[in-house]
Amino acid sequence: MPAAAPSLWTTHLDRTGPLPMSRQLAASLRRVIAEGGIGAGARLPSTRVLSAELGLARSTVVAVFEQLAAEGFVLARPGSGYYVPSRPEPASSKPPLPSARPVSREAKRLAAFVIPRRGEPRPFENGYAEIDGRFMADWKRLAARVLTDRSRAQWAYGDPQGDPELRRAIAAYLGAARGVRCRPEQIVLTSGTQHGLSLAARILLDPGDTAWVEDPCYGAAHEILTMAEARIVPVPVDEHGLAIARSPETATPRLVYTTPSRQYPLGMAMPYARRVELLEWAERTGAWIVEDDYESEFQAPGKMLPSLQGLDRGGRVIYLGTFSKLVFPSLRLGYAVLPDDLVGPATAARYLTDRQSSGPIQAILTEFMLGGHFARHLKRMRALYAERHRYLGDAIRDRMGNLLQIHPSESGMYLIAWLPGDWSDAAAAKALAAAGVVAVSLSSLVLATRRPPGLMLGYTGHSEAAMARAVERMAEALSCKPV
Ligand SMILES: Cc1ncc(COP(=O)(O)O)c(C=O)c1O
Repeated sequence: MPAAAPSLWTTHLDRTGPLPMSRQLAASLRRVIAEGGIGAGARLPSTRVLSAELGLARSTVVAVFEQLAAEGFVLARPGSGYYVPSRPEPASSKPPLPSARPVSREAKRLAAFVIPRRGEPRPFENGYAEIDGRFMADWKRLAARVLTDRSRAQWAYGDPQGDPELRRAIAAYLGAARGVRCRPEQIVLTSGTQHGLSLAARILLDPGDTAWVEDPCYGAAHEILTMAEARIVPVPVDEHGLAIARSPETATPRLVYTTPSRQYPLGMAMPYARRVELLEWAERTGAWIVEDDYESEFQAPGKMLPSLQGLDRGGRVIYLGTFSKLVFPSLRLGYAVLPDDLVGPATAARYLTDRQSSGPIQAILTEFMLGGHFARHLKRMRALYAERHRYLGDAIRDRMGNLLQIHPSESGMYLIAWLPGDWSDAAAAKALAAAGVVAVSLSSLVLATRRPPGLMLGYTGHSEAAMARAVERMAEALSCKPV
C-alpha cells in the first residue's frame, strides 16, 4: 500500500509559533489518526521523506513516531516502517467527532486528546496514594457520623468558595506545614490542582496571552493552558529550577506556571535567592506566578522548603495544592490560595462551572483534619513512602545497576532512573509497557530543551512485593536495547 500523503497533517504546523515542531507534529498526527483521516493499515511516510519535507532532523521525526507507537496510535514494523493499526485503541473508545456539524476549535483539539487510563495500580504508575487499614477505619467512622448528623440545610447547596470550617482547617494546615500566609477568606476550594489551574487560567488569561511554563513540564498543566488558548513559551530549568533569565523571550508573560518546591519532573528545589529573584521580577513586570506545590509534604524532614507564596509580599502568587496525594486522588478536593482581589472572580468561575464541591465529602475531610487524623495519616504515609522509595532504589541498583542510574533524591512519590545516553526513553517505556510495567519517559514531558533519557517510576501505591516482581520484568524487558 502506498504511504499516506504527509500534506494531510503537515498543513497546520506553525513554524513561527513557540511550540516545538516535534510536539506539533505529534499532536497533528494523533488528531488525523483519531479522526480517521488516515485509514487503518495505511503506512506512514518514511521518516526520511518526512524529515526532508519538514526540514527537521530525522531523529526528531523518529522520536515522534516512537512516542506515538508507545501511545498505541501507530504500529512500528521493524525494517518496514510505521503503520496505522487496524483498530487504533485510543480512537476506538471515542465517539466520532461530529465533523459535519459545527463545533468549537477547542472541541476539535480535545477530540484528539488521549485520556490516560487508570484502574488497578500497575507498577510504577505514579500518583497513587496508599490506603491502609487505619485510614479506612477512620474514614468510615467519620463518614458514618457526618452522614447521620447532617441537618436539612447541610444537604442543600453550600458555599461555592468551600465550606468555611474546612477553609479554616486548610489555612491553619498550610500556615504550619507549608509556610503559606493566608486567611481562610483567601482560599477557594477546588476539585484538585488541575481544576485550580483551569480556574487560574480562566481569571488571568485572555486567548493569545503568553504563559511561561517550565521545560520539562507537567503534561496536564501544558494542556490546560493550551485549552485556555494561551501562547505557551517553554522556559528551561537548570539545577535551581525555573530560570527566567534563560527565557527565550523578553516580553513579559501574563502568567508563569512553576513547581518551585520540587520541579516536576526533575525534582530540584528552587533555592531562596532564586525565589526572591522570581518574586521581584513578578512585582516589577506585573506577571502572575502560579505555584503548583505538589507532593512537597513527602520530602524528607529538613529538606522541605516552605512555599514561594509565603515569601510573596506583592500579591503576585496563586498557590495551588491538592488532597489527591495527601489523602487519595478520587477525593477530588484541592485548594487555590489567591490574593484578595482574585477571590471573587475565582469563586464566581467555580460557581458557574460546577457550583461547589460535594458537601458531605467536605464535611468528612473537615472532621478528618480537625480530629488530628490527617496529621497522623501524613506521618504514616511519609514513613511508608520513604521506605518504598528506598526499597525501589535498592532493588533497581541491585538488579539493573549496570544499566540504570537512580537520580539522587530524598523522597517524594516517584524516582527517576537515567538510561545510558544513547538510549531512547520512549522506546524503553514502550518495551516496559509490553511487559506490564508502566514508566513515563522524560522525553514525553520535554517541550523544547533536550534532556538525557530517563524514566519516571512511581512507588507510593505499590507494595514491595509488587515492585520486586516488576523490577524483575523490567530487567528482562530492557536486557537488550529496545528499538
Ligand atoms: C505536578 C502535578 N501537579 C498537579 C497534579 C494534579 O493533581 P490533582 O489530582 O489535584 O488534579 C499532579 C498529579 O499527578 C501533578 O503531578
